[in-house]
Amino acid sequence: MRARKIILKNYFDGKPNLNNFELVEESILETLEDREILLKAVWLSVDPYMRAFGNRMNVGDTILGSQIAQVVKSRHPGFPEGNKVIAFVGWRDMTICNPDKLKGLFRGVFPMPDLQGLPDSYALGVCGLTGLAAYFGLLKICQPKSGETVVISSAAGGTGSVAGQIAKIKGCKVIGFAGSEEKVRWLLDLGFDQSFNYKEINVDHTLKKWAVEGVNCYFDNVGGDLTFWVLQNTNESGRVALCGAISSYNDDPKTAKVQFDYTSMIYKQIKMEGFLVNRWFPEWGPAIGELIGWVKDGRVKSRETVVEGFESLPQAFIDIFEGKNVGKMIVAV
Ligand SMILES: NC(=O)c1ccc[n+]([C@@H]2O[C@H](COP(=O)([O-])OP(=O)(O)OC[C@H]3O[C@@H](n4cnc5c(N)ncnc54)[C@H](OP(=O)(O)O)[C@@H]3O)[C@@H](O)[C@H]2O)c1
Repeated sequence: MRARKIILKNYFDGKPNLNNFELVEESILETLEDREILLKAVWLSVDPYMRAFGNRMNVGDTILGSQIAQVVKSRHPGFPEGNKVIAFVGWRDMTICNPDKLKGLFRGVFPMPDLQGLPDSYALGVCGLTGLAAYFGLLKICQPKSGETVVISSAAGGTGSVAGQIAKIKGCKVIGFAGSEEKVRWLLDLGFDQSFNYKEINVDHTLKKWAVEGVNCYFDNVGGDLTFWVLQNTNESGRVALCGAISSYNDDPKTAKVQFDYTSMIYKQIKMEGFLVNRWFPEWGPAIGELIGWVKDGRVKSRETVVEGFESLPQAFIDIFEGKNVGKMIVAV
């Protein structure tokens, strides 16, 4: 049987481009060893972390990533044929693996949660890693209280849009920053109190005008200058969840120069904490249940930018760094 995979052809240097990737075909045996399964990808997730963790991949490696896949053949009792799974097997369309041996960060095969009728793709987005990052980063690190002001960067992305809507559920005033007028309008439709195109405005002046009482919580997907100015406007005992720093993912971390407001951090006793969503793995089940409930009762709305075709994965990934996605970027095989 033929399988396709996308490998790292050249190390990333600056923004990703098509020359970093190569689509490779290979033959895979259809005869399975004991406890092996054959997976057919249906949906693939495209995430900024694939750039941030680019230095964990070697030239020739399959690009990291998760997918919703159907179990086509199985010799594993935990993964019957016909079932769907969430598989961290990278950018592959057909995969033979032994789930017992596939363990670790960015690896593993998990049974599909019961999405109660929601689309399967939501298991990669609002009810998957993206939604979980928003859920735990906001609730565990920011711990927003009703009436507080919460700022979200990359607010119209998969993670940011969910974080902002959860902050609204918790009774907060929510201000979002995003990179286009279309995104700004969508955030207002979602119920954000204010949203702004960070490319067109002065973040400092905007927060002084629209967050006169100061910022209490900041869910940060972006880092860099935006974060500097949000910190300047953050209150005593503010909380910052460092979910991502996409503005610096294409820079060399050793030479990048980002201004950082140590004085505000110290004198205002601001807590800033980075996190990886797998920290709360034992709590994922109930959290997914709560996210499903919010989506079903309409309090959290999900939007996806769907790109068609396995071979489109590299372009979809490149497009993330151009801000072309609204909501979760996803590829339909
Ligand atoms: N810690 C965790 O466990 C965890 C889990 C999931 C995701 N993350 C992180 O969360 C962040 C969001 O991930 P996501 O999958 O939801 O992606 P996303 O926000 O849906 O997409 C990325 C968005 O980032 C913005 N962007 C791109 N380059 C930028 C730049 N130079 N400066 C400012 N904004 C830029 C673009 O929106 P604009 O048009 O608004 O610029 C783009 O659409 C990422 O940093 C990701 O690494 C972390």
